[in-house]
Amino acid sequence: METFSYKGESLFCEKVNLDEVARSKGTPLYVYSYRSIVESYDRIARAFAQVRPLICYSLKANSNLSLLRILSQRGAGADIVSAGELYKALRAGFSSEKIVFAGVGKREEEIEYALREKILMFNVESASELRVIDELSRRLNREARISFRVNPDVDPKTHHYITTGKEENKFGLDFAEAKRLYEKARQLRRVKLVGIHMHIGSQITSSLPYLEALEKVAGLVEELREEGISLEYLDIGGGFGIGYEEGTSSLEVEDLARKTVPIVQKMRMKLILEPGRYIIGPAGVLVSRVLYKKKTKKKTFLIVDAGMNDLIRPSLYGAYHRIKKIKRPDEMTSFEVVDVVGPVCESGDFFAQERALPEIEEGEYLAIMDAGAYGFSMSSSYNSRPRAAEVLVREDKWWTIRERESLEDLIKGEHTLEEKDGISCQLIPFTKMEGCGNDFIVIDNRSNLIQNRAEFARRVCARRTGIGADGLLLVENSKEADFKMRTFNPDGTEPDMCGNGARCIARFAYLKGIAKQNSSFWTPSGKIVYQVEGEDVKIKMKDPSDLKPAIKLNIGGKLYEGHFINTGVPHLVLFVEEVEKAPLKNLAPLMRYHQLFQPEGTNVDFVEIERDVLKVRTYERGVEGETLGCGTGAVASSLISSLIFGLASPVKVRMRGGRLLVYFQKRGDIFTDVFLEGKAKVVYEGYIPSSLMGEGT
Ligand code: LLP
Repeated sequence: METFSYKGESLFCEKVNLDEVARSKGTPLYVYSYRSIVESYDRIARAFAQVRPLICYSLKANSNLSLLRILSQRGAGADIVSAGELYKALRAGFSSEKIVFAGVGKREEEIEYALREKILMFNVESASELRVIDELSRRLNREARISFRVNPDVDPKTHHYITTGKEENKFGLDFAEAKRLYEKARQLRRVKLVGIHMHIGSQITSSLPYLEALEKVAGLVEELREEGISLEYLDIGGGFGIGYEEGTSSLEVEDLARKTVPIVQKMRMKLILEPGRYIIGPAGVLVSRVLYKKKTKKKTFLIVDAGMNDLIRPSLYGAYHRIKKIKRPDEMTSFEVVDVVGPVCESGDFFAQERALPEIEEGEYLAIMDAGAYGFSMSSSYNSRPRAAEVLVREDKWWTIRERESLEDLIKGEHTLEEKDGISCQLIPFTKMEGCGNDFIVIDNRSNLIQNRAEFARRVCARRTGIGADGLLLVENSKEADFKMRTFNPDGTEPDMCGNGARCIARFAYLKGIAKQNSSFWTPSGKIVYQVEGEDVKIKMKDPSDLKPAIKLNIGGKLYEGHFINTGVPHLVLFVEEVEKAPLKNLAPLMRYHQLFQPEGTNVDFVEIERDVLKVRTYERGVEGETLGCGTGAVASSLISSLIFGLASPVKVRMRGGRLLVYFQKRGDIFTDVFLEGKAKVVYEGYIPSSLMGEGT
């Protein structure tokens, strides 16, 4: 009796109505028949009964624990290819003396695991693998039972992706190399030679390639015997094909047995078979619902809710799977040529192309046949699609043997890095700018990417371990103007205003489209109006305050005369003969912390007047050293020079880093309409590396 057949109006699996299961469990859904699995297994066992083979079910075809248990309870062994499969095999009750371990890339820990579990044998595929097995067997003092997998170079006439026994394939050893390794392995203390292995490919529907390969292998076994190497197990692999297309049939295992058993008997070896697909393939279907029917000029698409992530065989191998309606098509039904496709965003996501199927409507269920092998086991959650549920049917009962994955499952094991982990997933772009030799890191922080500003400033401004700058300038949101400027010194302190910084940020804001060419922005010291013209930026400064001319400072018993003014930040201006000799290193720091200026301290400017040009050097608070230029210092020096020596607006200022112009109106000792003008240049742009982000930025 057919496993999947129509009864009444619907397609059944054994005695279970697939329509009902689909409605109850949802789709996409894998459904397997218990009977089919057992029948296929028994058929192989019967065919080869004369030699009582060990049938090692190949887990890669489908390793659902409930399905494995059916086979382990029937006495099957297991063919595994990874630690994961070994784990599942043991969990499902396969005894370790019935487990064979194949694969070209076994890892040390996998070999170790298998050695500890005392499996029947490793099917070794290279000289290097033999070396590793030898080493581990000695280190763990365990016997390693091995076979060599040979490559008989025969063509199994199947899809080239699943051909494994040809010379050009990565699998197995050519006979000469195999012989050499048998010789070598017999000398290894903890390695025991127990057999020989071949597996020439998958989905092979004729006995002939097996026969051809077996005859070759028999010759090799004979040669080895002559050299005193006798082997117990002959493992001829799996690969037994099934009839996917209408009118085709599976490998006739009775025929295969008839042809091979006499050879095996002559070889006097125990036979191992490794079928996967043959046992589980026809036992399973993938049930899917038609979501939409979409007609284009060229085609009719049935868009179903299963995708290539659920069953990849058509996409990967161009494999053919019969597709049946679950609702029985009536006799009169007309056929329609359709493409059955999934929802995955790939044109390769299809189950059938240009296939004539009985007319199907939206909402109907379809069964994709022969999907039991390499269906679920090759499935993924590509496109973040939870993997399908699996159901086992026996007679008129069915059980869920795997729940559908949940959305929660999709993120299992993932860690969401958050700002507290010291990472900002967003890369922060910065612009390095320079105004009169004052260099700044300028960042658009309107989205508040940088929160721990002081710490961030310390990191990025550091000359040797950071990007290096005299200051960090942040563009932030403001209610009062186009944006707000926040300035941070390399030590993390936040001055109210920075003249060169203001010119740089104005040009930055204009270049980045944050503000207009002539506009204004806000600073903690008030509003700044600016004009940008090429590299030149002119800003209107706050009117100065706190003017205190001719202050006497007593430092170490010596008197110095300076002039104090606040031009947004505090400045002490001292006139000197030669600015190049000004005591910036020794004296300036003492003045900067002088009790007269506590608690906020002051910047210190040394000024030499050379005709109508001021030569200025500034010691900056926060930087705690000389900078190449200082905008508020240039303004302070100009205003004080005008007050004391009568210099007229605009005053030309030359600092080490460049030139500035200071404009102002003066009435008595009242200054208004103060402007600072000079170049603001872009030096380079980049992204802040995560190593500089620090915690909480
Ligand atoms: N033994 C070894 C060493 C194998 O590599 C394989 C399958 C088998 C046994 C079982 O072969 P079976 O009896 O199932 O044909 N994903 C492909 C099939 C890949 C087969 C890989 N090796 C497909 O969907 O057609």
